[in-house]
Amino acid sequence: MLDKPEDKYIKILTQSYCKLTDIEGLEDARDRSIELDLGCGKGSFTTRLAKLFPNKTILAADVMIGRLRKLTKRNLREDVDNIIPLRVEARHLLASIIGDEMLERVHLLCPDPWPKERHRGNRLMCSDFLMQINRVLKKDGIFHFSSDDEPYFEAVCRIMDKTPLFTRNDDKLADIAGIKSDFEIRWNEQGKKVHHVAWVKNKAF
Ligand SMILES: C[S@@+](CC[C@H](N)C(=O)[O-])C[C@H]1O[C@@H](n2cnc3c(N)ncnc32)[C@H](O)[C@@H]1O
Repeated sequence: MLDKPEDKYIKILTQSYCKLTDIEGLEDARDRSIELDLGCGKGSFTTRLAKLFPNKTILAADVMIGRLRKLTKRNLREDVDNIIPLRVEARHLLASIIGDEMLERVHLLCPDPWPKERHRGNRLMCSDFLMQINRVLKKDGIFHFSSDDEPYFEAVCRIMDKTPLFTRNDDKLADIAGIKSDFEIRWNEQGKKVHHVAWVKNKAF
């Protein structure tokens, strides 16, 4: 039930034919400077990113409405008006909703690592997914990934370092160094390190 006052700010994307430019407030998305926080959770990182870049539009995407509500309430409280919360499944968002070369940067921070062998198929990062990330990024766009789970982090680095579609360049995160997501804060409090990496798009998909 969408019955909370903050729900009117959250876009629920279930229709397969919906395009980013069909969404109210994003009709001119092609002319904007857009970053996407994919699986944003409660969105502490998202809010700080939006405050750092008030002239950019930040898309905050997650499947969990409760987390998007927390993010939305914080944005209302702190007067942040450049975040668009999207309730949507990540693969659907990338494959069907976002057009070619629309985003400047995609953040995938501390995604669920699905450490058990039999659950590996649930991981978001795989070669199909990275092709979609490449497609939606603008020329020289950036893909930012982080994880506390070393085997997952290494597996993603192996896929990304092998593909001709991207080149690693961690300097591309200098402008957001020190901005932590909710899960990074949580892992750090437990003494775990979160690794960050960035790749730059090499060429059009
Ligand atoms: C471990 S949390 C990380 C949240 C946030 N990025 C952070 O670092 O604090 C993973 C988030 O991804 C969301 N998520 C998982 N699978 C998803 C999917 N297929 N599409 C969209 N969101 C997803 C979950 O609901 C959850 O909020």
